[in-house]
Amino acid sequence: MFKFGNFDTKLEDEVNEENEAECLMPCLEIELNSRSSYSNENQCTFAIDNLEIQYFNPSTVLQDSSVNDSTIIEAEKNHSDLLEGVYEGGLKIWECTYDVANYLCTRCRNLITDKQVLDLGCGSGILGIIAYKLGASVVHFQDYNEGVIKHLTMPNVAINGDEILNKSKFWSGDWNNFTSINNIKYDIILTSETIYNPKNYKKLLKVFKNFLKPDGIVILGGKSYYFGVGGSMAQFQDIIKEDNKLAYENVWSAEEGRQSYTISAFQFYLSILPIIIFHYFRN
Ligand SMILES: C[S@@+](CC[C@H](N)C(=O)[O-])C[C@H]1O[C@@H](n2cnc3c(N)ncnc32)[C@H](O)[C@@H]1O
Repeated sequence: MFKFGNFDTKLEDEVNEENEAECLMPCLEIELNSRSSYSNENQCTFAIDNLEIQYFNPSTVLQDSSVNDSTIIEAEKNHSDLLEGVYEGGLKIWECTYDVANYLCTRCRNLITDKQVLDLGCGSGILGIIAYKLGASVVHFQDYNEGVIKHLTMPNVAINGDEILNKSKFWSGDWNNFTSINNIKYDIILTSETIYNPKNYKKLLKVFKNFLKPDGIVILGGKSYYFGVGGSMAQFQDIIKEDNKLAYENVWSAEEGRQSYTISAFQFYLSILPIIIFHYFRN
């Protein structure tokens, strides 16, 4: 059959073919069933540029014997940061969270005010909670693992006040299925350390394009290279270039030991507002 070479269609087809070979984590919206109270024990403070948020030390969730979640039990049994397709690393605060948090608090505070924000691959949810503190009108959280959302993200959001709970929603599951259960468009997608696995790049791109408003921005923090897994910022940017729907700018970078870290901002070509991006990272 003759088919026009539409890259969007090709991208969806490729992702769907990959899915047939993969058993993907189903997507669920996770409801807050009760506003439980949480003890002060194991609570920590994340402080950046006059802003403070509370969070639970993620390792206590891994060690909590009352947490009856098979993926968390598996992760703890394997002493592993990542078990591909089973547990994708949400019970640890990864380095780029600190960088993106710092970037948001010091370089683009006003960008977040009254915006609808998605913390994609949220883990502890620190970036979403910071977005709320910086004035976001809506903050949604997504993680691969339901257990991470229930036992870490939700408690972290809850201990930062009832008001943020009223502005929040929570989802778990694989990115590829996320578009079928959520149809909200966001002004800002924050995502840290989500580019470690090249198998996920097309899914991530699909999520960006589906969930960004036409003038929305993705702020993504990642390492230049992920040893052992194979992903890299350069490979991800190649996928973005090939697709040709989003423009990107590296807005921050740093080196530490053998590792280098980059924060990139992605925005649709057709609605690109370079002055705004430049304004925020150069002032
Ligand atoms: C390395 S962790 C980073 C967690 C957090 N953003 C941070 O910086 O601390 C990667 C995150 O991406 C999510 N993730 C990875 N692959 C995914 C997939 N295929 N679908 C949905 N979420 C995924 C995981 O659940 C996890 O929270």
